[in-house]
Amino acid sequence: MANAIIEFKSVTKQYDNDPPVLDDVSFEIERGKFYTLLGPSGCGKTTILRLIAGFTEASDGEIYFNNKITNHVPANKRQVNTVFQDYALFPHLNVFENVAFGLRIKKMKNAEIEQKVKEALSFVNLEGYENREIREMSGGQRQRVAIARAIVNEPEVILLDEPLSALDLKLRTEMQYELRELQRRLGITFIFVTHDQEEALAMSDEIFVINKGKIQQSGTPTDIYDEPINRFVADFIGESNIVTGKMVQDQLVEMVGKRFECVDGGFQSNEPVEIVIRPEDLEITTVERGKLQVKVDSQLFRGVHYEISSYDQDGNEWLVHSTKKAVVGEEIGLYFDPEAIHVMRFNETEEEFDKRLEAYTDGSGHGK
Ligand SMILES: Nc1ncnc2c1ncn2[C@@H]1O[C@H](COP(=O)(O)OP(=O)(O)OP(=O)(O)O)[C@@H](O)[C@H]1O
Ligand SMILES: [Mg+2]
Repeated sequence: MANAIIEFKSVTKQYDNDPPVLDDVSFEIERGKFYTLLGPSGCGKTTILRLIAGFTEASDGEIYFNNKITNHVPANKRQVNTVFQDYALFPHLNVFENVAFGLRIKKMKNAEIEQKVKEALSFVNLEGYENREIREMSGGQRQRVAIARAIVNEPEVILLDEPLSALDLKLRTEMQYELRELQRRLGITFIFVTHDQEEALAMSDEIFVINKGKIQQSGTPTDIYDEPINRFVADFIGESNIVTGKMVQDQLVEMVGKRFECVDGGFQSNEPVEIVIRPEDLEITTVERGKLQVKVDSQLFRGVHYEISSYDQDGNEWLVHSTKKAVVGEEIGLYFDPEAIHVMRFNETEEEFDKRLEAYTDGSGHGK
């Protein structure tokens, strides 16, 4: 695609005879956006960054940078800078020299270096810290030095490998805002790695959800939250109630022995499916008015809402987020709109999901 700055085409990465670490991965990265690679430990996130940076080579497939194949371009010839998880700052150099390092290697003139380092430090709100030693800086400040060191080289892409994971919650939230804001101001493409789904939802233009070396789903945070394509994504992104059932016909699903109106379609009649309902889409009501009847098992106060765990007659757990309090041990009804039901086909790939949705809605975004 013309606007893609990076493109992976069927990229596989395999060490020895082990199963592939990345398995036939394809995606496009558009210029100037904030991307997040999200997935559990060992799923291949760092490997993707290393392939983009040129620290390792693909076993198979093509990697394009600005529409040119770059599989064999050395790391120092790529328009990419990396912020590593441990920042990899030079402990024997002060803040200024850490940031200036790449420019000195390029043999830039002193006056120009001074100007650029000053700009980079002011971008990350570290003016006046030039002469500080790295060991005299806090975790969050070190993180900003590492970012200044990356942006001073004016790369087209910045790769960030879990840069916030070492910070405490408060600083982490602050840095999330700062990073997002910085990306907007710079207009540089950011590819950010995290295994924290809330962080991914808060920061990204686009998220790639990865599991076991495969991209499970890609899209905007709302796309992925509202339309997870499989159990892994639904479970990994936010809290979900997931039960099995069958799709009687378009817009009619059966679960817990009852039939419910829904908005999904494009399935075989009576196809077995998985059904997701988010805890915040369930409303507590009387047993009579509820679409589902459940027994309250436990309840936690979470500040803004109660988190209620309940079970139906078949033993399925239903988590409910509600501002109303429930009574443990009591039978209650759960009410939800047809739109709250999200039906997933077993083992559907993202491509198949998109095709089915398009055929079902005629591309209008609404059911037939
Ligand atoms: N040099 C290597 N030789 C063999 N296997 C490797 C090598 N580097 C990485 N791996 C394996 O590749 C898989 C993916 O590793 P990767 O570092 O990409 O995961 P990750 O998603 O970044 O995980 P984490 O969140 O823990 O950092 C892991 O199973 C890892 O053991
Ligand atoms: Mg990693």
